[in-house]
Amino acid sequence: MKTYKLAVAGGGSTYTPGIIRSLMDRLEDLPLSEIRFYDIDGERQSKVVVAAKAVIEEYTDKIKVIDTTDPQTAFEDVDFVFAQMRVGKYAMRELDEKIPLSHHVVGQETCGPGGLAYGLRTISPMIELIDYVEKYAKETAWIVNYSNPASIVAEGVRKLRPNSRVLNICDMPVATMRNIAAILGVEREELDVDYFGLNHFGWFTSIKVDGVERLPEIREHVYKHGLLTEDVSKIDYRHADSSWIKTFKNIKLIMDHFPEYLPNPYLQYYLFPDHIVETSNKEYTRANEVMDGREKTLFETVDKYEETGILEDSFAVGVHGTFIVDVTVSLAQNLGKRYLVMVENNGTIPNLPNDAMIEVPALITSDGPKPEFVGDIPYFYKAMIDQQLASEKILVQAIVEGSYEKALQAFTLNKTLPSAKVAKAVLDDLIEANKEFWPTLT
Ligand code: NAD
Ligand code: LMR
Repeated sequence: MKTYKLAVAGGGSTYTPGIIRSLMDRLEDLPLSEIRFYDIDGERQSKVVVAAKAVIEEYTDKIKVIDTTDPQTAFEDVDFVFAQMRVGKYAMRELDEKIPLSHHVVGQETCGPGGLAYGLRTISPMIELIDYVEKYAKETAWIVNYSNPASIVAEGVRKLRPNSRVLNICDMPVATMRNIAAILGVEREELDVDYFGLNHFGWFTSIKVDGVERLPEIREHVYKHGLLTEDVSKIDYRHADSSWIKTFKNIKLIMDHFPEYLPNPYLQYYLFPDHIVETSNKEYTRANEVMDGREKTLFETVDKYEETGILEDSFAVGVHGTFIVDVTVSLAQNLGKRYLVMVENNGTIPNLPNDAMIEVPALITSDGPKPEFVGDIPYFYKAMIDQQLASEKILVQAIVEGSYEKALQAFTLNKTLPSAKVAKAVLDDLIEANKEFWPTLT
């Protein structure tokens, strides 16, 4: 049977051991001969690789593991690359969240000015990664990308490397489906959904089980409990932190105003920015929650394993791990399975621009994603999407041209920012904080 070589770019990610467990669980569908870990922070990665190797050893001794900071060693002859880089790591995420909040606007990893800041950091390392992969890997290699901010990354890749084999994915739609399935008491795989939007900016328009529309039932449930089961322990640990519980409860807030479709949870930042700021702790944000939670637990687990040889299973990543592996199996085996992923519009939603990177259902084949026709979308959603799309597209132009004015236009168009004056103040503070990472904007 054919075996594959897979590289993980951003091997030092907190998600790495969990993703490796998902890969090990699916070795029959995706037989691997090598796993290469690549990161620019070799020290961090080597600690994480201790845990990743321990997971692999639970399953097999037949997979060669390479831990490297050298691109050629990482990507030579590989079939797949999983990308999960956090450019600037948690220190910069913290600033992306806290600087906007200090101006009383949304401070979030991918939405609002924090997301734009993260985008300004990530495009150039992402292009560098694509170039390494094109230089060293097999011609048929795919990069399956989780690196955020996925929407801006997808636009940057579309514009700068239009022919590259990059599939941009996000676990939020599938995590939302996990909650829907738990509420309906069915398996996630039984759901047949329709969805449209941009990444972190979309709506479920239909949720069927066995051909029966269940969206009305979900609407009734959300009206009482938000998008949570009454027993919250059914939600996998990746979304069990208090900030995520609050986010899934906020689906009620959104649907109380707009009950037509089920929103992606990240829409809370665009539709209720005032409420989000009022209920945020400006001193302790999601970055702190992750550093004190997922990141700390991972490094403690590694330390304990090195001392005792006992590997505590603190990193089963639920849908995050299973989704990237599901998509990759469909790419590798040409299964044509239907998943929600990012694709270039090209008429899928005729009343959005052809060159928009949209998130919709697509069949995943060895040639990449084949989106299903969606049709025109109602004006309210189109108007929201057009504004967000303009903000993200102009941001990528700002990066390419090194243009301060375009960056300011992108910030001003972002719905979380109330005026050009506030947009400028936030942008100027973020420029100062990101000197090491951003292109010069003049
Ligand atoms: P993390 O900080 O724990 O790990 C990221 C790793 O990327 C670090 O080890 C860092 O050194 C490395 N890195 C940074 N720049 C790099 C570069 N240029 N080349 C190679 N490696 C580089 O982050 P995390 O919380 O585990 O998240 C990883 C990524 O996955 C982030 O981009 C995050 O936003 C994204 N993410 C996406 C989803 C989704 O569904 N779209 C969900 C969760 C996380
Ligand atoms: C993370 O897991 O840290 C993010 O990428 C998404 C979140 O949970 O805030």
